Amino acid sequence: MQRFHIAVIAGDGVGLEVIPQARRVLEKIGRRYALEFAFYDFEWGSEYYFRHGRMMPADALEQLRPLDAILLGAVGHPEIPDHVTLNGLLLPIRRAFDQYANVRPARLYRGVQSPLALRKGEQIDFVVVRENTEGEYAQVGGFVHHDQPEEIAVQSAVFTRRGIERVVRFAFELARRRNGKQRVTSVTKSNAQGFGMVLWDRTFAAVANEFPDISTESLLVDAAAMNFIRRPESFDVVVASNLFGDILSDISAILVGSMGLAPSANLDPERRYPSMFEPVHGSAPDIAGKGVVNPLATILSAAMMLDHLEASEAAQSVERAVAAVLAERHVRTPDLGGTSSTEEVTNAVLDSIVL
Ligand code: NAD
Ligand code: IPM
Ligand code: MN
Repeated sequence: MQRFHIAVIAGDGVGLEVIPQARRVLEKIGRRYALEFAFYDFEWGSEYYFRHGRMMPADALEQLRPLDAILLGAVGHPEIPDHVTLNGLLLPIRRAFDQYANVRPARLYRGVQSPLALRKGEQIDFVVVRENTEGEYAQVGGFVHHDQPEEIAVQSAVFTRRGIERVVRFAFELARRRNGKQRVTSVTKSNAQGFGMVLWDRTFAAVANEFPDISTESLLVDAAAMNFIRRPESFDVVVASNLFGDILSDISAILVGSMGLAPSANLDPERRYPSMFEPVHGSAPDIAGKGVVNPLATILSAAMMLDHLEASEAAQSVERAVAAVLAERHVRTPDLGGTSSTEEVTNAVLDSIVL
């Protein structure tokens, strides 16, 4: 019996609904593959903020550090500014645990309708690898003349050769492992941003030389957005800065059917710290509390967690169960055109896992 210590931060909104579903799946898969999960619930987030004036306690990172992985739902509350909630909970974890590779797969499952009219037989199966610790999210800057008519704000992007190099190398290694189209696409905006993005392009070209077996492509982000729609089948691994990766991964999520299907892993590939697994979507206040949120993005994120914990058979078994439910086309939440509840979808996944 292998035992894993998992931090669980359900967070806000639909996070509170999807996390229990992912746990049900982990419990069942654990019985099948002799894995035991010790879950540590951290009730941090906006309700914690209303009580304590902060999103998580001062020693939160110390509490998380010894655990094997973090499973997170979503963060964000309509009554608290987003920069307060996100800079108070989600982003500090990504930074402190140096989770520099944010892996966001986009795979069109059988039985799911893409909003695009794809040519017959066309598959969408690629991964966005987003730099997750610097770039446009570095939080370097400030306000001058605060609250005065002449107020100015400076928000600087920070790109380091080391930061770019390591995420680009991760992307190439992933392309090798995936054994798909063996292709890495780098996305920048170096025609307008002549420093950070130029360093990115140069670093990408240098790392590419180490991977002669992998073909490469460099796109400007505006063209990349267009090509995600025009030729989604051509991508394999896409590597981009923090902000561009954020935006592109919402496009890739909807290309394969729904925000409710898009999982993600915030990885420290060197395994010095716990990595964090969460759906790409947010707290979805428009549907929170109604029992209709799609739990599959979180369940697939839990599968990515199993893979990271080197329980790859268990991970594949969860993914197969999700794929089977989607292929059946019967049980699905409203975002996929169905009428099932969150719980009914999880029940169907559980039924598809054969003990
Ligand atoms: P969102 O992802 O929460 O929702 C966008 C749209 O997609 C909504 O219409 C929502 O109903 C739908 N949707 C999202 N997930 C779904 C699911 N699993 N099933 C069915 N429908 C789903 O993005 P938003 O509305 O821009 O942001 C809401 C809040 O969440 C904000 O406070 C934002 O800052 C925060 N946010 C947090 C995270 C995170 O915690 N990782 C990510 C994105 C946004
Ligand atoms: C995501 C989210 C976050 C991000 C927000 C909520 C800060 O959009 O995980 O994609 O931009 O990283
Ligand atoms: Mn996002």
